[in-house]
Amino acid sequence: MSKVKLLPGAGDQLTPREIVAELDKYIIGQGEAKKSVAIALRNRWRRQQVPEDLRDEIAPKNIIMIGPTGVGKTEIARRLAKLAQSPFLKIEATKFTEVGYVGRDVESMVRDLMELAVALVKAEERESVRAKAEEAVEERLLDLLLPPAPAGAATDTGATREKLREKLRAGKLEDKFVELEVTQRVAPVVEIFSQSGLEEMEFNFKEMMGNIFPARSKQRRLKVAEAREMLLQEEAGRLIDMDRVVEEARRKVEHHGIIFLDEIDKIVGRDHGKGPDVSREGVQRDLLPIVEGTTVTTKYGMVRTDHILFIASGAFHLSKPSDLIPEMQGRFPIRVELSSLGAGDFERILTEPENALIKQYLALMETEGVRLTFTPEAVREIAALATRVNERTENIGARRLHTVMEKLLEEISFTAPDLEDQEITITAEYVRERLANLIEDEDLSRYIL
Ligand SMILES: Nc1ncnc2c1ncn2[C@@H]1O[C@H](COP(=O)(O)OP(=O)(O)OP(=O)(O)O)[C@@H](O)[C@H]1O
Ligand SMILES: [Mg+2]
Repeated sequence: MSKVKLLPGAGDQLTPREIVAELDKYIIGQGEAKKSVAIALRNRWRRQQVPEDLRDEIAPKNIIMIGPTGVGKTEIARRLAKLAQSPFLKIEATKFTEVGYVGRDVESMVRDLMELAVALVKAEERESVRAKAEEAVEERLLDLLLPPAPAGAATDTGATREKLREKLRAGKLEDKFVELEVTQRVAPVVEIFSQSGLEEMEFNFKEMMGNIFPARSKQRRLKVAEAREMLLQEEAGRLIDMDRVVEEARRKVEHHGIIFLDEIDKIVGRDHGKGPDVSREGVQRDLLPIVEGTTVTTKYGMVRTDHILFIASGAFHLSKPSDLIPEMQGRFPIRVELSSLGAGDFERILTEPENALIKQYLALMETEGVRLTFTPEAVREIAALATRVNERTENIGARRLHTVMEKLLEEISFTAPDLEDQEITITAEYVRERLANLIEDEDLSRYIL
């Protein structure tokens, strides 16, 4: 057996401390949760370094993140995915129904993950053959540009070709037309309604159709610039070895794949034995083998799920993790709680993250030529008001900042195109002026903020 080459994703090489530092750029607080996911991610890399016989024994330490709504659970998972550069799928547990019922079956998440991985590896592969593909494309463009040599004058075609190549490289021929054969796979539009929906169909339908309706080629006149794009696709496709892509994608899924199961608390049934809860528990039962390790058939072949990392998350308002079926609890040994956010956190969330809400609004207004500034007092006031609304109506966490900011800047947003080249400073007074009535009136804030 040939030795498997180790190609860990970049995120795997980050130390837990570095991973937390990266997450800190986007998520305020929630240190415990960040630490747990950082360790879990690092453990994937550690496992790859362990001798093979032991490696298979090491199961991923799946995590449940527990916390109220809008405190950063999904955000942590989203950022982790970017860092890990591993195939990462986020899916709501509520999407699934028990096998045999109408809806998505749980195995589809593994198929989706595999699909993602194939796209990921293919993109990488396309990048790595790019130089080679570009060379081939240049030759083909020259073939197309070069008029057929008149009989007997074949001697100087080499020189002509080189001259043409120079022009082509200098970008002087971009608008010239060339004629080339374009292949299109024409499949008639068919709509099929089936219980399991499109997803099942895609399973093999597309390929089947591909074979039934052969590629049709057509002569087309294109500018060099357009032709280059098209030829590049074609040449890259020729250079990419799909068998290898699939093999690598499977390896990535099986050893580095992460599935983020959101809203897991919604598949916890509180009453046992009656009503829709039966089917929720059914979903848990269906999930179990996947989390425990099983083989799922995908259109790319069998995929083992033993070492896929699962991160589940839920608010667990009405239920507790201990309400999950016992086998399930055992498969999620790490529990982290995220804390609810206060005014101090909001102040930081408004300004610090790289995608902070205030930064977003500044950039948006900038496009209209309006330069916004927020005084520190204004930021503090917004945070305080948001906290107050959360306390008095419903606590929706940092999401409250979105509604408050939108209301606060409504007027400026509306008139921005008329305000060109103005500097506007948002002060604490302005914040109070715009929002105070709304916030004092509980009914109003319930509807508007
Ligand atoms: N700690 C935080 N730091 C920075 N931004 C945050 C934080 N918590 C929440 N946000 C922001 O609030 C919004 C909602 O957060 P998120 O989607 O993570 O909520 P959640 O915890 O998954 O809630 P739910 O249980 O409702 O799914 C996002 O835009 C996110 O950027
Ligand atoms: Mg969420």
